[in-house]
Amino acid sequence: MRILITAGPTREFFDSVRFISNPSSGKMGYAIAAQAADRGHEVILVSGPVGLQEPPGVHLVRVVSAEEMFKACVAEFDTCQCAVMTAAVCDYRPVTRLEHKLKKQNKPRTIQLEPTEDILANLGRVKGSRVVIGFAMEDHDHHAHAEEKLRRKHCDAIVLNGMSNVASDDATVEILRAGGTWSAPSTGSKPQIASVIVDLVEELVSFCP
Ligand code: CTP
Repeated sequence: MRILITAGPTREFFDSVRFISNPSSGKMGYAIAAQAADRGHEVILVSGPVGLQEPPGVHLVRVVSAEEMFKACVAEFDTCQCAVMTAAVCDYRPVTRLEHKLKKQNKPRTIQLEPTEDILANLGRVKGSRVVIGFAMEDHDHHAHAEEKLRRKHCDAIVLNGMSNVASDDATVEILRAGGTWSAPSTGSKPQIASVIVDLVEELVSFCP
């Protein structure tokens, strides 16, 4: 099977050196990519800037911004049977990127932001019978928000990710399949959780025509 996986944060620059981002480490996405490649799947890993080794046997596409991640995913998804979207994509980008470093002034500054592309929602819209799995990062009303994302982004399953998983070596996740009920929480190292998620991918893809 050919699987598209996104991982890591994106960076949205507002001048030549400064950007908006988040602390995503990419560990979950890289662990899923490594596990899927170990099982003999063809893996396209589209990754924002992270400090991780390229997993063996994986085709790594390095990107920086949400726009670059979007373009890379749209190009690769055509030939994939499944997408697993673990990336912490910035929801907003500065409207302008200054050519030079913004000089300090002793007064408040405002940076105007505009929405980035929702990559998962876009793939969900065109997926047809392909399998799309989202991750939901929530800090309150976890189930309700994750369920809403699953429906709105046309996912086949969504993985609920708590804030304590961010940049950690371990994770606790719960999984909701479209039309199903929440799984019991799974806790383990990210490679162990990756194995649970690749099991899910293989099962969902096996139901596809
Ligand atoms: N996602 C994406 N493109 C974006 C934002 C999110 O592909 N511009 C994907 C993430 O990779 C994840 C899912 O959508 O699989 C949910 O991301 P999350 O950050 O939990 O939710 P958001 O859609 O950004 O909504 P909110 O920030 O309001 O919770």
